[in-house]
Formats: sequence, structure tokens, C-alpha cells
Amino acid sequence: MSNALIINIGKLVNVRNEYPLLKGEALAVLPVLENVWLRVTGGRIAGMGSMQQWEAAPGENIIDAKGGAVLPGWCDSHTHIVFAATREDEFVDKIKGLSYAEIAAKGGGIVNSARRLRQTTEEELFESAWQRLHKLIQQGTAAIEIKSGYGLTVADELKMLRVIRRLKQQSPIPVKATFLGAHAVPEEYKGNTDGYVDLIIQEMLPAIAAEQLADYIDVFCENGFFSAAQTIRVCEAGIKHGLLPKIHANQLSLSGGVQAGVQLGAVSVDHLETMDDAAIQTLAGSNTIGTLLPSAAFFLRMAFQPARQLISAGCAVALASDYNPGSSPSGNMNLVVAMSCIQMKMLPEEALNAATINGAYAMQLEHEVGSITVGKLANLIITQPLPSLAYLPYSFGDNLIEKVMVGGNIWA
Ligand code: NIG
Ligand code: FE
Repeated sequence: MSNALIINIGKLVNVRNEYPLLKGEALAVLPVLENVWLRVTGGRIAGMGSMQQWEAAPGENIIDAKGGAVLPGWCDSHTHIVFAATREDEFVDKIKGLSYAEIAAKGGGIVNSARRLRQTTEEELFESAWQRLHKLIQQGTAAIEIKSGYGLTVADELKMLRVIRRLKQQSPIPVKATFLGAHAVPEEYKGNTDGYVDLIIQEMLPAIAAEQLADYIDVFCENGFFSAAQTIRVCEAGIKHGLLPKIHANQLSLSGGVQAGVQLGAVSVDHLETMDDAAIQTLAGSNTIGTLLPSAAFFLRMAFQPARQLISAGCAVALASDYNPGSSPSGNMNLVVAMSCIQMKMLPEEALNAATINGAYAMQLEHEVGSITVGKLANLIITQPLPSLAYLPYSFGDNLIEKVMVGGNIWA
């Protein structure tokens, strides 16, 4: 069935021959064709045309979009979907008023996830992540990045990355793997962050490189976690092993993570809840993508990312879910798009571009996904008929997806 003809498409969204990384004002330009068909051959987009003239080829599966919109599927460039256990007990503690520090003192947070992951087998981790991945595809995710960072020992980081490799091999959608050994300082290295950084550089990275387990290197650059100087050390070592940086930057404080990322030529700096003019200007003057994670800000009750200032300054902005058990236990990109419009005042067109083509760039998958372009994978969302594109984020929390297509096949 990977040869298909989708007919009666009310709106075909983000149709591009050329698909540059979108910065500043260009982010608000979303090319749409109305009343068209789309041809899929061998799982890839092969052509499109007006419904005034259409003809099915022999053996082609005809899919009637019944006036709905067809969009490129979501490109979620920042997730942590491999984890051993959910953390709703911490969620309730937070509701009752406990602070981040108090929860950490009770053994909560990232090190809690690490303790649980160390007791979980590779097989169990794969199974639960596989279920999550399937649910995300149902919600329209067409490509995904997945991080390690809940192992925090050589063996357990390798275990996580092997799970991600299996997901990559078996996943129907493209997967990118990121090594996030520098996610938190494990209990064994408490008070000795530099010692743990040495372990990452001297033992974890060479082992990961030998098995080619990662595409990117990441560091949680934050007060109480890793400094900008330590971030640079880890990333430079990663770069020597062929891993480009994607950094957790400026989530809780002005950590210097944005400047470090730009200096390192990072693919993206992610989070950006806490920004000042210097960080915004530095990012604007670079090709590093600012990846905004509004569901993490929402879940932690923090100020949302300053999307308007970033866009006015000329930054390239992407949207991602940050799906993880601690700060964003949802990977629903439909909700991320809605939140970015409602809370960060992104225009619907900006949000749709940021969650598709710019997200694809943030995984270096721009030649495969992120726009309706001949030759790209037919990983698509087919929606109910929409009165306008704004209706998508406006109807937050409602599921307007009728069908999802993966590699030309309807996802059941
Ligand atoms: O991206 N900020 C650091 N890491 C995750 C949270 C991880 C956790 O709490 O488990 C994030 O928000
Ligand atoms: Fe994250």
C-alpha cells in the first residue's frame, strides 16, 4: 500500500520545493495549496495537483481526505522516551508545595529515574519505549530524537543507547540518538562533578563511539548540574568523536548554555525559558536553532519561552515536546503547537513551521521530513476538515487527526 493517491485534500500544508531553515519573519510564511491530490510512490511523496484533474495509477490505493488538511507529520527533535518508571509521586509532592530541592533531597528528580533505570533490563526498557513511540506516531509524530541520560554509569548509558539503537532499527519513523551522559551528577560522584565529566570523556564517549551508538552529544548546562565550561569540555570531546552538540540551555537560569552552544556550533540549544538580550542576540547571530519546549515550562509552572523576542531578533525557532517522566510527561506535539500559540503568542503559521521543517533541521533530517516536498518520506497527518489552519491550535486538547500516514501506509 505504499503507493497511494490521497484525494480531496482541503488544505495541503507546508508545500515547498526549497525548504531553507526558517528564521525571523520567514517563520510566518506557510505555503498552502487548496483542493488538491497528493501522490505517494514507494513510501515517498511523488507529486501533487489540482482536484480538477486527477487520475489514479494502476494498483494505487486511493485515500479520500474528505476535505481535511494534510500536513507533514510533527518533527519532535527533543525527547527522553526511554525511561524505567513514571514519577507521578513527585508531581503530587509538587502540588502539595514541595520545592525542587526538597524533592531532590527525598531522592527525586533525574537521579530517581537513574536509580530505577539501573534496575531495569534492556528488554523492558525497549518494550515500554516502543509503546510510547507507537502512541506518539498515532498523535502525528513523523520523526523523533531520543536522548540517553538516565543511566549515568558507563554500563547504563550504553544500555540506554542500545535501546535507542533498537528503536532506530525497528521504528517506522526516523529516529536520532543523543548521548546525554551529562544530564545530572550521579550519587557516586556527588561533590565531584569534574570527576564525572572525566568519566564521560574518558570512558563513556570512546565506548559509545566504538559502537556508533549516538548521533549527537547533549549536556544539561545549569546551576547545580554542569557549568558552561564543563559543557564545552564535554561537547568538544563529543565533537572529536563526530557527535554534534544539542544542548539543554537556559532552562532554570542564565547558565551561559546558549553562548556555549553557539560557540560550539551546536545544532540546537533547547529549553530557553530564561533568556536575556545577550543570549538572544548571540543566538540570532548564528545558525544554531533555538528549540522551545513549552510543555516543560507548563508542567513546571515556569514562565514560557520568549518566542516573540527570539523571532523578532531573527532566531531560527523549533518546537519539541521534551517528553520525559520529570518535566514533560507528554509527547503530544498537537498540544505543544497549541501551547506555543496560546502561551508564547506564536502565530499558527509560525508554530506549524517550527514543529515541522525547523524541527526536521534540528535533527538534520530536513531532506527526509518536515515539508510536503517531492522525494521526502510520506509521513503525514490527515485531519478533519478545518475552517482555517488557526482552528488546529485553537481547538487545543481536541484530537482533529483522522489518519496518520507513515511511509505511505495508513497507521492503524
Ligand atoms: O529536559 N532539564 C533537564 N532534563 C529534563 C528533565 C528530566 C527529568 O526531570 O527527568 C528536561 O526537562
Ligand atoms: Fe530535555
